[in-house]
Amino acid sequence: MEKTIAIIKGDGIGPEIVTEAMGVLDAVAAKFGHTFTYVDAPMGGCAIDAFGVPLPDSSLETCLNADSVLLGAVGGPKWDSQPSANRPERGLLKLRGAMKLYSNVRPARMFSDLSASCPLRADIAAKGIDFVVVRELIGGVYFGEHSTAEVDGEQKATDIMAYAEHEIRRVAHVAFQMAQKRRRRVTSIDKANVLDTSRLWRRVVSEVAEEYPDVELLHMYVDNAAMQIVRDPSQFDVIVTENLFGDILSDEASQITGSIGMIPSSSMGEGTRGLYEPIHGSAPDIAGQNKANPIGTILAAAMMLRYSFDMAAEADTIEAAVDQTLKAGIRCGDIMQAGCTLVGCREMGAEIRSRI
Ligand code: IPM
Ligand code: MG
Repeated sequence: MEKTIAIIKGDGIGPEIVTEAMGVLDAVAAKFGHTFTYVDAPMGGCAIDAFGVPLPDSSLETCLNADSVLLGAVGGPKWDSQPSANRPERGLLKLRGAMKLYSNVRPARMFSDLSASCPLRADIAAKGIDFVVVRELIGGVYFGEHSTAEVDGEQKATDIMAYAEHEIRRVAHVAFQMAQKRRRRVTSIDKANVLDTSRLWRRVVSEVAEEYPDVELLHMYVDNAAMQIVRDPSQFDVIVTENLFGDILSDEASQITGSIGMIPSSSMGEGTRGLYEPIHGSAPDIAGQNKANPIGTILAAAMMLRYSFDMAAEADTIEAAVDQTLKAGIRCGDIMQAGCTLVGCREMGAEIRSRI
């Protein structure tokens, strides 16, 4: 097959980790007889430096015309003083909106070879961590009206959280269909004791649940969920939640696996085209030093093959190569353990490629 992949290297460690993921994709293409064509799409701080805006129209066009998009990370302290409408993150939000990527899937799975890195008590970790956060990605307070104005002699800022039924329904379907392929349990997370948007969320998710009688639905308040994720993560299979709650809970979920550098994510809309990225940020403190862990991005590339290109065997090959590399005791700094071999970003990429 021939596929065109838009490449957003981004800022900080972005270029290093994406380069390793592209190397792994090339190895898969050679093994399975595919052709992947890469088209660069500058976005984030580097695009502000080169074009004055975080997402130039040409980059957006490239992404909209590609079969999928692979992203490293954007942002960094260099652009902190940009006006809020021109921050690197704005580029990402604009891209998500323009590609209509309403569902963001972030797995929280503990790799058995990395259980020593899990920050939870051993008896809690022993019950296993294997759940998925499905985050609504283009609604809620992120995409509501934002304003700052002078009111009664002081500055007053407002961010509006709004949800329409269809925005809730479509992401709920994603969660239930995912649960059908897993352990058939959806936990919907909201703040229905306080927020109108959450009461609507709860009603619509409950309605969608009726179409999936084989899946159990539980509702949980977000404050309780934040606590339950560290108290007993084994109770979760698929979590579905709105944009801001999902942003917060998915960071918490990744950290308890002990390896934020290992976790990929996919963002999808109606078609097969998606945006794939590691869930970690641009880590400017270690940028350009060959210290970053490229595994999150490499596993994001595997997710792209599986979900956008329907290449399950190819994705399995990448995931198996990552597992074997970890089994061989090869580690980047963030997941280093006693008795293992410390390698840099490039060497980790090469080790994984050699196992494709
Ligand atoms: C994420 C990030 C983004 C978000 C930022 C960079 C805008 O934190 O993908 O979780 O808040 O969605
Ligand atoms: Mg986040």
